Amino acid sequence: MIKHAVFEKNSILLTVGILIVVAIGGIVELAPLFYLESTIEEVEGMRPYTPLELAGRDIYIREGCYNCHSQMIRPLRDEAERYGHYSLAAESMYDHPFQWGSKRTGPDLARVGGRYSDEWHVAHMIAPRDLVPESVMPGYPFLATTPLDAADIADHLKANQIVGVPYSDEMIATAAADLAVQVDPDSDELEAFEARYPKAQVRNFDGNGEMISELDALIAYLQMLGTLVDFTTYKAEGQNLR
Ligand code: HEC
Repeated sequence: MIKHAVFEKNSILLTVGILIVVAIGGIVELAPLFYLESTIEEVEGMRPYTPLELAGRDIYIREGCYNCHSQMIRPLRDEAERYGHYSLAAESMYDHPFQWGSKRTGPDLARVGGRYSDEWHVAHMIAPRDLVPESVMPGYPFLATTPLDAADIADHLKANQIVGVPYSDEMIATAAADLAVQVDPDSDELEAFEARYPKAQVRNFDGNGEMISELDALIAYLQMLGTLVDFTTYKAEGQNLR
């Protein structure tokens, strides 16, 4: 007597049976996650974005840079040799939403910070083909001439705080001022700013002292990418590819 004949002759019973079997697989995968305190390994150096970097990130999203650029270096040898250490989960833990991307028309940008000078970025964002003749990246010349509209920057920090980014109330209160400090190395508030945002780079990013432009914010963001975690001291738990 074949016992499974009863399932094969009754489609409802079969459906219920399939659901039960599939659910077992799901539980085996999911249940352990509820007992882990965190699925993200903590890494030294990660801090929330400065107000200027956050504004630059918003422009990155607004302009759809993620359609052509990923920010996720996979743990494969060719990727690590080209872009640097593979991306850690912790490196995007303050990203809402994350910018891993799904397509690379251009290179991965997860560690582009410090790879080029500000002047290179200014020229490249205005006219990519002036620097890379075969580039298919569009120019964004208007960023250099558009003043950054950061009237709501404190609200941006606040929104991030609500979803778990550790911005303090002090950081929110000083957000607008901090944004201006980051392009002004002579500011009296510099020390307090650097205490709030360790390793923040402070300078006039677009070379134009007349105003804080959208390009200032975007370049501040790009120059920070991948620079927060010090990989000379970082050792991955378990495997290490480099
Ligand atoms: C249509 C696809 C496309 C879009 C959209 C795009 N890029 Fe690119 N990007 C490229 C390509 C292709 C390259 C490689 C050639 C070059 O350097 O111009 C590149 C190169 C770059 C580089 C140099 C990376 C390196 O390691 O050499 C940076 C930085 C960059 N893009 C930033 C941006 C930003 C910021 C935006 C949004 C404002 C953006 N890109 C939008 C295609 C794109």
